[in-house]
Amino acid sequence: MSAISMDQLVSLCKRRGFLFQNADIYGGLQGVYDYGPLGVELKNNLKAAWWRAMVYERDDVEGLDAAILTNRKVLHYSGHEDTFSDPMTDCRKCKGRFRADHIKDGKCPNCGSTDMTEPRPFNLMFKTAIGPVDDGSSFGYLRPETAQAIFTQFKNVVDSTSRKLPFGIAQIGKSFRNEITPRNFIFRVREFEQAELEYFVMPGEDEKWHEIWKEKRIKWWLEQGLVREHMNIYVTPKEDLAHYSKATYDIEYQFPHGMEELEGIANRTDYDLGNHTKGQDEFELFSHCHENPESTQKLCIRDEENNRWVVPFVIEPSMGVDRGVLAVMTEAYTEEDMGDGSKRIVLKLKKHLAPIKVAVIPLKKNNEQIMSKCHEIKQNLLKLGIGRVALENTGNIGKAYRRHDEIGTPLCLTVDFETIENSPETVTVRDRDTMEQTRVPVADLPNFLRDYFL
Ligand code: GAP
Repeated sequence: MSAISMDQLVSLCKRRGFLFQNADIYGGLQGVYDYGPLGVELKNNLKAAWWRAMVYERDDVEGLDAAILTNRKVLHYSGHEDTFSDPMTDCRKCKGRFRADHIKDGKCPNCGSTDMTEPRPFNLMFKTAIGPVDDGSSFGYLRPETAQAIFTQFKNVVDSTSRKLPFGIAQIGKSFRNEITPRNFIFRVREFEQAELEYFVMPGEDEKWHEIWKEKRIKWWLEQGLVREHMNIYVTPKEDLAHYSKATYDIEYQFPHGMEELEGIANRTDYDLGNHTKGQDEFELFSHCHENPESTQKLCIRDEENNRWVVPFVIEPSMGVDRGVLAVMTEAYTEEDMGDGSKRIVLKLKKHLAPIKVAVIPLKKNNEQIMSKCHEIKQNLLKLGIGRVALENTGNIGKAYRRHDEIGTPLCLTVDFETIENSPETVTVRDRDTMEQTRVPVADLPNFLRDYFL
């Protein structure tokens, strides 16, 4: 099991400003969380690492940032209107509602009664009126996955970038699911973020690319600090596959509440592009696509070698950003025995993920000379582009070190009287993990930090 319990993690997140319950002052909104001052930095850093690996470091991927509000036809032809549901059951005694597949021994998790209704499908999409007339006919959905806009914009991206197979379209953004029982903190929520790549390949090459992406994604998670022994690759049984998938690997992680899905990597075949395509009969589709009398486009690409048009197959690595935040925090949480009966809590985040990269700490609170030097150092460090540099003015150096250990700040720079009196000026640099302190000339800080962070 994980070294940190979910309760400890929730408490750390609130205490230090990573995550707060949404609408806390009104008793909260179930399954909805807000990222606080440090959480927003950590989440942004994780998304930036994903974007860098999936878009910038590759020559075959383009980005997209599509709308959340979705035309209902998109989610009709994608199959979500008919099939995107979980089985729901009600307790006749306490009137609680639960996911039927989460019920153990037929007992209500709330009151223990076995008087439960037969499971029935509950569609997870949030429906919303669009426009000023709410007459039931002009509605759309909040997207339940970011992927669909990648499919519907496929032709526009291909036409504007002249891409050939294989190539991908990446997107990070919010998705919404009306989960029956949101639970385990930010693991299962109603509003969350996904980072999805739709990687389009020639039909027949899909299985090869499915394997390649599985390996690439495991490697990426290791680079974010996860340990391989805490991960598991789950092969989804045929009967549990999503309606669009031919095969799915789940990358699972040992969260505080157990081994569960962190990212899905699906072989979606030509199911989505096929279903959104006009005149499907012209193409050899793998799937049994339903008729689409409403689409105006053929979502296909030219296969020059074989002188034909094809609807590409799609491999989709889809990560939950919030689950990613939960996983890297779980992995990084460390308690160290200080040998004097006290404990040190350290969040050993990879440095590229740390919310604050460097804390500049004055030895003496409100001392004008020291503070002015701190401001000058901070301004100079900001120019390096290493991320957030924070200035502390608590005047309690021990307390500042403890706080920065607990939030994962890799380096603390202490500015003291020696800094301003000595020539050359020097500061103390303290390493989060080793607690080692070294004296570094202020003039050398840019090179020192560039080497350390970039
Ligand atoms: N486009 C494919 C897709 O959406 P999925 O397995 O339903 O596939 C992908 O979702 C990832 O999104 C999951 O592996 C998980 O990390 C995240 N995710 C899904 N539902 C979630 C929820 N209710 N709360 C938080 N994350 C969720």
